[in-house]
Amino acid sequence: MPVKSISSPISILFTIFYLLHVGSCWELWGYNVELSVPKRDEVLKFIRNPYCYKYECCNDNWIQFKKRKLENNFSTHVFGQPLLNAAVDALSSHFNKYFQSSKALTMSFHGMTGTGKNYVTRFIADSIFTNGMKSKYVHHFFGRLHFSETSLLKQYQTDLYSWIKGNISECPTQLFIFDEVDKMIPNVLDYITPIIDYLEDVEGVDYSKAVFIFLSNIGADIITEHFHDLYVQEGKNREDLTLSDFEYFIQKGAFNENGGLFHGKTISNNLIDHYIPFLPLEKKHIQLCIEKEFQIRKVLHPHENHINEVMKIIEWGPDSSKLFSKTGCKRLGPKVAILVDRHYRHVSFSEKDEL
Ligand SMILES: *[C@@H]1O[C@H](CO)[C@@H](O)[C@H](O)[C@H]1NC(C)=O
Ligand SMILES: *[C@@H]1O[C@H](CO)[C@@H](O)[C@H](O)[C@H]1NC(C)=O
Repeated sequence: MPVKSISSPISILFTIFYLLHVGSCWELWGYNVELSVPKRDEVLKFIRNPYCYKYECCNDNWIQFKKRKLENNFSTHVFGQPLLNAAVDALSSHFNKYFQSSKALTMSFHGMTGTGKNYVTRFIADSIFTNGMKSKYVHHFFGRLHFSETSLLKQYQTDLYSWIKGNISECPTQLFIFDEVDKMIPNVLDYITPIIDYLEDVEGVDYSKAVFIFLSNIGADIITEHFHDLYVQEGKNREDLTLSDFEYFIQKGAFNENGGLFHGKTISNNLIDHYIPFLPLEKKHIQLCIEKEFQIRKVLHPHENHINEVMKIIEWGPDSSKLFSKTGCKRLGPKVAILVDRHYRHVSFSEKDEL
């Protein structure tokens, strides 16, 4: 025990910390028992604010953008989306400590199903908040679930405005993810345009630290077509592409197709900072996704035949070249699970069997 003199207030705090730490590690906090002498940093954090040591608070211990972590997670878990680097850069400059952002960061992710738009948001949440998607500062809305009833438009608008305002008043760094924007009834987002505009504050609330991400299939066909042209006709690799190769096409698509960004002010006022296209995936990317699904199930070296068997369920397009998976990496998990069960059961269950 690190107690030398009970009379010193520091050592008393130290002892309290120590007791809490060890005493609670079994049932309450799940801390590591090996940590018998607490680290100085941890003690200081605890002394500064015991409550926030344990519970999520609006401070640096719980909210801090970690660029390296995001890059690592993207490179190990997301395949074939080099343009995602633009999102990393955008987040990095948004959270730059030396140059305060002047408006909320707004990004719109576009692409066909299975390309990873939704999948990547968990890594983004994880790179900003210690609690990741479970953070109380992360809000995930689904167009079809939350905003699809035309008669409730007014209600949606006022609810959304007051939720965003209420949450940001409590803590300025918040992540709002709007999934399936194309399934939202039009105009829901109009009401929040002042929030994401270049205004210092609106009714006394500063929205400039928030992040808004919109996900949709809007423009997916245009992205596929355009990428196909660049790839087949101009011989460009996906690694050579830049956002500017797509921005115009996505904006055009977002205007012309139905859905939540359509008709609304969100796009026409140019309030979206970055349009990020998710490119259709080729055979080599699907193969990586399949291997990943095996690895998740503890099969590190799946047999080639089994990979090919999963590959067979994929439909390929466009008709002319059949270069891209029509469903990206979606729905591979269940198929892989069946194969693992059939052929590798002894691998994943060997430890249990021995018990
Ligand atoms: C991101 O990577 C870190 C390791 O660097 C890992 O602990 C974390 O779980 C990953 N995030 C997600 C959402 O998988
Ligand atoms: C914060 O947002 C959630 C929706 O994600 C909402 O239910 C809650 O009421 C909001 N909190 C405040 C204080 O407005």
